[in-house]
Amino acid sequence: MASAPRDFERRSWTWMCIQGRRLELSLTAGTFAVFSLCREVFNPLSPTLVGAVSLSMLLCQPGWRRGLASHLLNNRREARLRHVFWYCDVVGRGGHLPRLVSVRDFPAGRSYYLELPTGLYLESFERRLPELTAAFSARAIRVQPSGKSARFVEMTVTYDDAFRREYPSPLLNARASSLWEPVVLGVGEDGAPISINLFEHNLLIGGEPGSGKSVALSSIVAAAALDPSVHLVLLDGKEVELSLWLDVAGQFVGRSQDDAIRALEDVQAEMDDRYRELSAYRKRKIERSGRQGLILVVVDELALYLRGGEKALRDRFADLLRDLISRGRAAGVIVVAATQKPSHEIVPTFIRDLFAYRLALRCTSPEASDTILGQGWASQGFSAAVIDPQHRGVGYLLAEGGVPRQMLSANIRDDDLARLVERAVKARFS
Ligand SMILES: Nc1ncnc2c1ncn2[C@@H]1O[C@H](COP(=O)(O)OP(=O)(O)OP(=O)(O)O)[C@@H](O)[C@H]1O
Ligand SMILES: [Mg+2]
Repeated sequence: MASAPRDFERRSWTWMCIQGRRLELSLTAGTFAVFSLCREVFNPLSPTLVGAVSLSMLLCQPGWRRGLASHLLNNRREARLRHVFWYCDVVGRGGHLPRLVSVRDFPAGRSYYLELPTGLYLESFERRLPELTAAFSARAIRVQPSGKSARFVEMTVTYDDAFRREYPSPLLNARASSLWEPVVLGVGEDGAPISINLFEHNLLIGGEPGSGKSVALSSIVAAAALDPSVHLVLLDGKEVELSLWLDVAGQFVGRSQDDAIRALEDVQAEMDDRYRELSAYRKRKIERSGRQGLILVVVDELALYLRGGEKALRDRFADLLRDLISRGRAAGVIVVAATQKPSHEIVPTFIRDLFAYRLALRCTSPEASDTILGQGWASQGFSAAVIDPQHRGVGYLLAEGGVPRQMLSANIRDDDLARLVERAVKARFS
């Protein structure tokens, strides 16, 4: 800002104040002009009449009222934004300021879509972030490229820590749900819900003990349990995490590797039948309108089945799991698995890469985080090892082809879980 001449600064300040109130000023000027004209041309009562009619029209039309209010608000926001940019030296060549294209409000803050003036670019904008954060009294500000050209950026201002509070699962009060629809897994940094689409996709969850894997799994199992058309196959190495869902599970397996293998073989046989039927009807994948429902295979604690017992059993389990993940998509088989020990022996790369969604909750090391998300993400700043151990349920979610997003998984407490199970039993058997 020091480089900008003082009189230009003053001129711009006045101009920005006028800009921020341009609608109010134009309305006042317009009203004054109409009043004067009416008084001259018609009788002295006519301006009052015109004023009363215009005001009642405005008050009676909710659409107009809302439009006017949002226009006034946007003008005010734009003016404030320009003041802050000016004082934080987010200025292009010749003193031009970024242009506000649109604003999006979200629960924890606001996102501004901006067009940058010549001479201002993403990196120079980023250098001003500490000052901008203080000027906005924000918790954090992030700028990222947005739109089709380098001229457009999205500035996200976060006022609240969306992860400070618990995020109760939206399913807590649901009577029913459908696994064909996206399932809300948690909430993002911006406070907006994050959903995943499980049809044709699998999910892998990894994290140290107590990081929140079973809680995250609960949201998925709850969505499936409340959908009576879903066949649930639950494999629970600890036997206590998923056992609450016993009444709605088609198959429930505890620690036994033999039982786990048999359960996966049953699913494999059903998958093969479905493919035969699909091919007979010349279809490529099962449809929502068809008679076959989705099959959800949930494995809590992969290590128990992939590391323990005899080698032949371990290998058989790994083969079956890989087959279901790689071929299950079109037959409606969905695999959701969690592991306490994200290492290459438990989750070999060839299995990991088959999971479209990967959620890395807090891990003990960047390598463990990379085992879930994929090689190299930790070095790019997406490491679940730096998550605060107190922030249970917080992790990085990677969705096919995207960039990991930090999120907090939806919570279902034990007493809520018991009520959910009751409702799911009713939805299925009454
Ligand atoms: N999303 C969340 N919101 C609030 N609290 C959570 C969340 N996730 C986990 N927690 C808290 O953390 C505790 C441990 O979570 P959870 O049992 O899911 O961990 P885990 O990763 O499955 O552990 P383990 O590996 O030992 O099975 C929960 O009892 C709960 O109190
Ligand atoms: Mg657990």
